[in-house]
Amino acid sequence: MNKTKLIGPFKQIIPMTGLSLKGPISDNQLNIIVDGGILVEEGKIRAIGNFDDLAKNSEGIEIHELQGNHTCLPGLIDSHTHICFGGSRAKDYAMRNAGKTYLEIAKAGGGIWDTVTQTRKASKEALIKRTTKLANRHLKNGITTIEVKSGYGLSVDEELKMLYAIKETNAIVSTDLIPTCLAAHMLPKDFDGTHEDYLSEISEKLFPVLKEKRLANRIDAFVEESAFSAAQIAPYFEKAKAMGFDITVHADQFSTSGSQVAIDFEAVSADHLEASTPKEVELLAKSNVIANALPGASIGLGCAFTPARKILDAGGALAIASDHNPGSAPMGDLLTQATILGTFEKLSNAEVLAGITFRAAAALSLNDRGQLKEGYSADFIGFHTDNYQEILYNQGNFKPCMVWKNGALVFDKHK
Ligand code: NIG
Ligand code: FE
Repeated sequence: MNKTKLIGPFKQIIPMTGLSLKGPISDNQLNIIVDGGILVEEGKIRAIGNFDDLAKNSEGIEIHELQGNHTCLPGLIDSHTHICFGGSRAKDYAMRNAGKTYLEIAKAGGGIWDTVTQTRKASKEALIKRTTKLANRHLKNGITTIEVKSGYGLSVDEELKMLYAIKETNAIVSTDLIPTCLAAHMLPKDFDGTHEDYLSEISEKLFPVLKEKRLANRIDAFVEESAFSAAQIAPYFEKAKAMGFDITVHADQFSTSGSQVAIDFEAVSADHLEASTPKEVELLAKSNVIANALPGASIGLGCAFTPARKILDAGGALAIASDHNPGSAPMGDLLTQATILGTFEKLSNAEVLAGITFRAAAALSLNDRGQLKEGYSADFIGFHTDNYQEILYNQGNFKPCMVWKNGALVFDKHK
């Protein structure tokens, strides 16, 4: 049995509690625990409050006493990534910056299909190695939960290879990986049949295995002119819903229609939304779908940012994720990207932090993390500062000095 541990004192703990899931949040709504401590038992938070008060009855408790100034946040949650892949798309990036568009590059044989080819060539072990490396990099940046999509296999067997690689990586790394099946990323070029035929094959042959082998509980689709239309995806999502999967959608990246699909199928999230107009913003805000902004894709493609300010002002729930992938979002630094989105979209510190903590947890239907409170997972990170504002002020160039996952110190810069 793990010993009960008290960690602190932190100059500030920002527990991200008591804040609404939807709409704007101002910084003065943030709860700040000064000179705080976190009491951890069996991987969960048993108590959180003033360090000295918690230390009073410390018999039998291991105290992890911090020296110097530290500020504590919940472990960050990256609610949209594609970090399981083979190869590189550095060539796409160079072509794009030389003036070619994302769709032109895809049509010329680059784009998603290039990564599919390279991922199919990779062994499951090679994918595990790569995903482990990237997950560990995210962990050092304070991310204790990462959603990871398949979608570069695009056949029943190759999607299974990816999802097994994600599952096996999850058993190796300290950060939690939440798998999502994105077999509906595009119609594979080697598939002999229509979009509808492909989707039927996937839903008939892959969905039952996902359930049986517990490989994913979430189904995603790229609803876009270059991928699947709203009409094509409807029967696929109907089947997924009937089987009890959560739905999430790559929506409104280049053209609109995806967010309406997300609303119609009561998706947990609609992600991207760079092309959303006031109409989609309004519809999303009225719904229970979390709007997931992916600034890494805007930075990677040189496109507009998701209208995050408008979504919040209309009353929507805004999560922020890295979309880390080899094509459109190669950087993979969530804190940097969330900060930049905040600068361009005029988001408060509280709104940015909400987007990468409890609102991101909601985008993944996780109700045990993203906030620091009793009973929640003891996932938290520390920064060398006495003022939480310094974290975003440094625009991502200020990394955590410690990462705690399920009550264990899994990264310690002091060592
Ligand atoms: O989220 N938009 C579609 N899918 C990915 C891109 C994947 C890729 O380019 O490899 C995205 O941006
Ligand atoms: Fe994506």
